[in-house]
Amino acid sequence: MLKGKKIVLGVTGGIAAYKSVELLRLLTKAGADVHVIMTRSATEFVTPLTFQTLSMNPVNTELFNLISEREIGHISLADRADLFIIAPATANVIGKLAGGIADDMLTTTVMATKAPVLIAPAMNVNMYRNPIYRENEEKLKKHGYFFVEPVRGMLACGWEGEGKLQDPKEIFEAAMDALSVKDLAGEKILVTAGPTREEIDPVRFISNYSSGKMGYAIARAARRRGAAVTLITGPSSVQKPCGMESVSVVSAGQMRDEVISRAKGSTVIVMAAAVADYRPAARSGDKIKKNGETQQLELVKNSDILAELGRGKNGQLLVGFAAETENLLGNASRKLQEKNLDLLVANDVSADGAGFDIDTNIVKLLFKDGRVEDLPLMTKAEVADQILDRVAALRGKG
Ligand code: PMT
Repeated sequence: MLKGKKIVLGVTGGIAAYKSVELLRLLTKAGADVHVIMTRSATEFVTPLTFQTLSMNPVNTELFNLISEREIGHISLADRADLFIIAPATANVIGKLAGGIADDMLTTTVMATKAPVLIAPAMNVNMYRNPIYRENEEKLKKHGYFFVEPVRGMLACGWEGEGKLQDPKEIFEAAMDALSVKDLAGEKILVTAGPTREEIDPVRFISNYSSGKMGYAIARAARRRGAAVTLITGPSSVQKPCGMESVSVVSAGQMRDEVISRAKGSTVIVMAAAVADYRPAARSGDKIKKNGETQQLELVKNSDILAELGRGKNGQLLVGFAAETENLLGNASRKLQEKNLDLLVANDVSADGAGFDIDTNIVKLLFKDGRVEDLPLMTKAEVADQILDRVAALRGKG
């Protein structure tokens, strides 16, 4: 999504300036063409050479520079930008923008741009809570500026509180949000992700290798495209996406209850979770002792959440997954029909680059009308957008 996009990254003078180096790296890695503008005080914290080397573009620090005015002066940068990010943004620069002051390269360019502007503040907690600062932030929000609010933490000034620059990964996410077409606005999308755990005793459980990455990518992409998202997730060590209702569960039974109670209020349900088909018939209260050469474990069937949703379908668009190791198309189309789905994402989890606990997947999309689409190897983020493109089309928004 960021490939070829022109992003202007404004860096102002705060100790968090070093974190915008990481943000720059994320943006360029995603294919963006980043032009950095530093305020004079920002250059006291990090050298322009660092940003220049990583962005492979000249860094702008002066308002009237003979070369940059001729080639990429502030108006030209303002015109060409697809997105403007200021990170870290000090109370001073936010105050200037709110007051309409344009007295350096950064503020002049921001004032002259029609691109969306994303501001990631970082400052002392008392400055952040100061009513004058609050008014400035509210004023800019009212004028359509986006904010990535700072987080709580130990601040450079020694105070503890909110004011710490948000994680560069979250600022990167917010940049993607700002650039996304909101084609799923108005949709309420419920996504399940991760594995479930079925307890055998206090120290053992039955589970699978699902990491949650596929489901999280779908939830994140749906939020970015304007949907109100609820994520129901089994245990996962992957960082949960933010900006949505997130419900953590452990067992298939818990996942079923959380999904069914929200199904009616959803317009789209995507079941990417790897739900255990069986659970132990009884959970032992104590650790089961080693006893004999073999051990019997009786399993009982869990309810099939997707099949239950398919039976009670009430206008929702139902998207299921199929994780297969043989007869992919045959098994997948049987699941599509038996569970009354609108779309089924089939992955051969034994193929290289597909399936559990990796960042890529290879899927086939099966539709109710018999159509089958073969997608090549992609990142799970790309697969998520491909699935949501089909969802948007099926909801009449494509
Ligand atoms: O989490 P990752 O590491 O990123 O891995 C991604 C993935 C491989 C888990 C994902 O791409 C995937 O294939 N998810 C579905 C896994 C699965 O349980 O497939 P299944 O063929 O067993 O189930 C078919 C469908 O029924 C699935 O949508 C599943 O969520 C649902 N189901 C299954 C059992 C059950 N009791 N209730 C269900 O709703």
